[in-house]
Amino acid sequence: MLPMIVPNPSLASLTESASDALGRFSGCPPEWFAAAPGRVNLIGEHTDYNAGWVLPIAIDRYTVLAAAPGAEATQLRVRSLAFEEEGVLSLDALDIPHPTPWMRYLQGVVVQYRRKGIECPALDIAVASSVPPGGGLSSSAALELAMAHLLESVTGQSLSSAARIDASIEAERQTAGVPCGMMDQTVVESAHPEHALLLDCADKTVTFVPFRQVEVTLLVIHSGVSHSLAQSAYAQRRDECERGARALGVSTLREVGLSDLRALDDELLRRRAHHVVSENARVQRSAAALQRCDWDTLGALMVDSHTSLRDDYAVSCDELDVLVRLAVAEAGVYGARLTGGGFGGCVIVLIEPERLEAVADSIGRQYAEQVGWAPTNYRIRSAAGAHALCAAL
Ligand code: GLA
Repeated sequence: MLPMIVPNPSLASLTESASDALGRFSGCPPEWFAAAPGRVNLIGEHTDYNAGWVLPIAIDRYTVLAAAPGAEATQLRVRSLAFEEEGVLSLDALDIPHPTPWMRYLQGVVVQYRRKGIECPALDIAVASSVPPGGGLSSSAALELAMAHLLESVTGQSLSSAARIDASIEAERQTAGVPCGMMDQTVVESAHPEHALLLDCADKTVTFVPFRQVEVTLLVIHSGVSHSLAQSAYAQRRDECERGARALGVSTLREVGLSDLRALDDELLRRRAHHVVSENARVQRSAAALQRCDWDTLGALMVDSHTSLRDDYAVSCDELDVLVRLAVAEAGVYGARLTGGGFGGCVIVLIEPERLEAVADSIGRQYAEQVGWAPTNYRIRSAAGAHALCAAL
């Protein structure tokens, strides 16, 4: 069977799934709901932790939590539909990272909120999600921000949006052990539909750039290769960037231009820095191209970004390279690149809407022939950021 475009379940149907799952799991109807989207990054990869610029959008694939008061006084009991498993977190033993990796994202948020004086009561929670885990679409940030909004609904105590973003980032870094930057949580929390979010990671300034998917659309293709940021070279890349900055006598690579990189003797550090510095310039040019609906320029910058991630930053893999190569050979495609941390996961393809089905089909066939398995295709639209949902939904 050939890969078709996987339909995006609506937020309402995910909410219903979470609600049904909670009923079966805890025997209680849900009292609270929260939802958070995944994201794709149009451009600006591995620049966030270098105080650079990124240009992501939130997507219409979501993680939804449904919750009811917990039966066990000191426990968070969670049923995940995605992982088809249950996790129990003792609210008395939050210091020990939970043995189940996805539970740590929820645990991390509970820990961060406790530090701010907001205590999580005993809850039963069901999780339904259309954000594929491990696909580079920020399933972890979606889970964190959905949990943050849920906790605020349950307790009636709210944080500012900025504090919520920080709590989610620290949850991921401290409890899940992933040394992430700030892009994912910021866009998952703050996105507006029909806009990309240009984020300056030095001072956290956000500029919304209109992105109306009328003349173009985004096809997301999952390579079928799962990545694990925690175990991958992500931390190593961060370290290489810090070493490069130190060798250049600056605190971050944002502060240097391409000509400064000649002063770096170490070839490897120079290549890593070259990616970061050139990618920052591409983000600026992409935001301007997006603003004037110049799809040819945006597409070309996306391809340059992929090449730089592959050759200078070494975070691509054969399967992602095959997908990008196949995509750019298709009529109606403006550009394609890996999105997210890399080492597997997804590519995004900027494409004329009327060519979507044909291109997805053609890439799918050739990819299956070359790689041995079919990719998964998603058509995505930009979406709003995380929020609590009305229990009557
Ligand atoms: C992951 C991290 C982000 C960012 C990207 C790469 O998604 O969570 O902070 O560094 O990788 O751009």
